[in-house]
Amino acid sequence: MLDINLGTTRKWGIENDEELANLQNRLGSLNWQLSRLEKKEQHGEKEKNRLKAIIRLQKEKQELHQQLSALQETMEEEKRSGTRNDHFSNRFIALAKNLPNDQATRVKIGDLNEAIRALNRKAKKTAGKSPDTSITSLSYDIAGSGVCETCHPAQTEFWKNTRHAAAYETLVAKRKNFDLSCLACHLTLNLQNATMATMQQTSLLAFPSDLQSVGCETCHGAGKKHSTRPQQYRLAKNPGKEVCLTCHTKEHDNNFDYDRKLQLISCPAG
Ligand code: HEC
Ligand code: HEC
Ligand code: HEC
Ligand code: HEC
Repeated sequence: MLDINLGTTRKWGIENDEELANLQNRLGSLNWQLSRLEKKEQHGEKEKNRLKAIIRLQKEKQELHQQLSALQETMEEEKRSGTRNDHFSNRFIALAKNLPNDQATRVKIGDLNEAIRALNRKAKKTAGKSPDTSITSLSYDIAGSGVCETCHPAQTEFWKNTRHAAAYETLVAKRKNFDLSCLACHLTLNLQNATMATMQQTSLLAFPSDLQSVGCETCHGAGKKHSTRPQQYRLAKNPGKEVCLTCHTKEHDNNFDYDRKLQLISCPAG
C-alpha cells in the first residue's frame, strides 16, 4: 500500500513518524539483545566475546538515543513552525496469516529459499566473510512436521496432543505471534541463538504453518534428508536435556523437572 502526503514546503523528505517508530523498534530490539547477553555469563574466550558484544551493543544504543533525540527535536520544530515536507510511505499488508500447508506451497517456498540462498552465496563471495545468518540457512534442512507425519503417524498423533503442537496458537491467542521475542521459543526453529536481523527476516517471510509449533525437528533435528532416505540419514531418538533447556529457561519455566517432563513428551514406539 502506498500513501502520499503533500506538505507545505514542496520538499520531499522522510516520514518522521515512521522513522521514529523505526528507531524505537531498533532500540527495543537492542534492549532485548542486551538483556539476554547480560544474563548469560560465560567462560574464557566466550566470555571475552560476550563482553565485546555488550560493549558494541551499548555503543549502538547510545547512537540510537542521539538519533532519536535529534529526530524528536526536528519534529518539535516542524510542529512549532507548521512546516512539513512532502513524503510517501509504503507498507505490506498480509492478506492471510498462514500459508496453506500443501505440496505446491512447499515447493514454492523451497524454490524461494533456494533463490535467496543463491543470492546470499553470491553476496558472501563479494562481501568477504560475513556469516550467513539468513533464515534460509536455519530452515533449509527442515522438512516440517507434516512430512514426518507421513511415515510416523503414531508419534505425530501423540505429539499433536502435547502443548508443543499448540505453542504458536498460544501466541496467536495472546496476539503475540508477530513479537520476535516470543517467537524465539514457540516455533520449530529454535531461534534462541539467531540474530535480530535473522529474526526479522523470519517474520517477514512468514512461516509455512508446518513450522508454527515446537515441531518434531525441534527435538529430533533437521530431517529433510532423513525424510527421503531414512536408513541412510538417521535422526537422534532422544534430544537430551540441553535441547529442552534452550527454551525451558528459568524465566519461562522456573520448575523444569527434566525427568518428569520428559515422560510427558516422549513419543511412543511403533
Ligand atoms: C519416508 C518415511 C519417513 C519420513 C518422511 C520420516 N521418517 Fe523418521 N524414520 C523412518 C524410518 C524407516 C525409520 C527407521 C530407520 C532405521 O531404523 O533404520 C525412522 C526413524 C526415525 C526416528 C528414530 C531413530 C531411532 O534411533 O530409532 C526418529 C526420531 C525419526 N525417524 C524422526 C523423524 C522426523 C522428525 C521426521 C520428519 C522430519 C521423519 N522421521 C520423517 C522413516 C521416515
Ligand atoms: C523451541 C523451544 C522448546 C524446546 C526445545 C522444548 N520445549 Fe517444551 N515447551 C515449549 C513451549 C513454548 C511450551 C508451551 C507451549 C504452549 O503451551 O503454548 C512447552 C511446553 C512443554 C510441556 C508442557 C507444559 C509443562 O510444562 O508441563 C512439557 C512437558 C515440555 N514442554 C517438555 C519439554 C521437554 C522434555 C523438552 C526437551 C526434550 C522440551 N520441552 C523442549 C518450548 C520448547
Ligand atoms: C526462552 C524461551 C521462551 C520465550 C522467549 C517465550 N516463551 Fe512462552 N513459554 C516457553 C516455555 C518453555 C513455556 C512452557 C512453560 C511451562 O512448561 O510451564 C512457555 C509457555 C507460555 C505460555 C503458557 C501456555 C499455557 O497456557 O500454559 C504463554 C501464554 C506464553 N509462553 C507466551 C509467551 C509470550 C507472549 C512470549 C513473548 C513475550 C513468550 N511466551 C516468550 C518458552 C518461551
Ligand atoms: C519435545 C521433544 C519432542 C518432539 C517435539 C517430538 N519428539 Fe519424537 N521423541 C521425543 C523423545 C524424548 C522420544 C523418546 C526417546 C526415547 O525413547 O529414548 C521420541 C521418540 C520418537 C521416535 C522413536 C519412537 C521409537 O521408540 O521407535 C520417533 C519416530 C519420533 N519420536 C518421531 C517424532 C515425530 C514425527 C514428531 C513430530 C510429529 C516428534 N517425534 C516430536 C521427543 C520429541
